[in-house]
Amino acid sequence: MKAWLCRAFTTIEDLTFEDVPDPEAAPGQVVVAVKAASLNFPDALIVQGKYQVKPPLPFVPGSEFAGVVEAVGDGVDHVKPGDRVICLAGTGGFAERAAVPARNVVPLPGPIPFEQAAAFVFTYGTSLWALRNVGELQANETVLILGAAGGVGTAAIQIAKAMGARVIAAASNAEKLALCARLGADHTVDYSADGWRDEVHALVGKPGLDMVYDAVGGSYSEPALRALGWHGRFLVVGFAAGEIPKIPLNLALLKERRILGVYWGDSMMRHPEAHAANMKQLAEWFAQGQVAPAITRRYRFEEVRDALADMAARRVLGKVVVQIAPEEASERPRA
Ligand SMILES: NC(=O)c1ccc[n+]([C@@H]2O[C@H](COP(=O)([O-])OP(=O)(O)OC[C@H]3O[C@@H](n4cnc5c(N)ncnc54)[C@H](OP(=O)(O)O)[C@@H]3O)[C@@H](O)[C@H]2O)c1
Repeated sequence: MKAWLCRAFTTIEDLTFEDVPDPEAAPGQVVVAVKAASLNFPDALIVQGKYQVKPPLPFVPGSEFAGVVEAVGDGVDHVKPGDRVICLAGTGGFAERAAVPARNVVPLPGPIPFEQAAAFVFTYGTSLWALRNVGELQANETVLILGAAGGVGTAAIQIAKAMGARVIAAASNAEKLALCARLGADHTVDYSADGWRDEVHALVGKPGLDMVYDAVGGSYSEPALRALGWHGRFLVVGFAAGEIPKIPLNLALLKERRILGVYWGDSMMRHPEAHAANMKQLAEWFAQGQVAPAITRRYRFEEVRDALADMAARRVLGKVVVQIAPEEASERPRA
């Protein structure tokens, strides 16, 4: 089968597209014929050795994907060959087939297209966990989302609106801000412009923001924290800008602001029931049309390197997917 391989933790350019043996389903594993894989920021980091997880080399990158079960190993009984599934496996998605631990494979809840299914769980799971479980966002509160046009950011816009909040979306250019507005943001702010913090202050006035959702870090975090009002919550989600900001803690003391870390991957393991409840909520919102991945570009299987390079260089809008084996609408089961 064809697969992208990371043979050394160097650059995205060094990934290779190769013929490799088909995987087999060992006990506790599921072999999935991959149809679509989405990109998440860690996919671009992991191949460069810049992510906290370093898989043994060589490995197939691609953390999140959807496809059809081809075979199951001993001890697997929650899926069977032919089932349409989502996989959140950390690696393996940029290949025609992947052998995945059974616990990372979930049957699709309905006749959802593979590319939507592949682009959903990581970003929406993270953003609902952050806004609801960690931040306890309330209806009518105002949240500023930094990196609002990215994967977790676009999910956060839709979820915050579904929760009844007022959303200020911050991103770096007009095209990205237009996407945020289309997804429901009440206000947009271009944080590449000098006056962006004054714009935020003008929007919220003296009471300040109730919440900041920060997926970017760098020089954006401190001004956003300063715009929080009394008991405002600051959600530390990610550092896409590459720099982990060092915050003067008097900013927390003043106004009793709360700085809250978000680590969805670990929380999911520690609180499986809360995670299951969130997935149920997301499936309901999806069915009602309140949330859906903002897929703005599809790359061919041969273009994985270009897709990862675009993500690392801040060129991606919303979510992008790699079509490993594109599905015809007629192949999809009916609701
Ligand atoms: N804590 C958790 O549990 C958790 C879970 C999932 C993801 N994350 C983290 O959340 C962050 C965002 O992930 P994502 O998948 O949403 O990524 P993404 O789709 O690439 O979005 C990241 C956004 O960050 C902004 N950005 C600012 N400076 C950047 C730079 N130098 N390079 C790239 N982007 C830059 C970009 O928007 P502008 O151009 O508009 O600034 C971009 O839209 C990552 O750090 C990821 O590791 C954390």
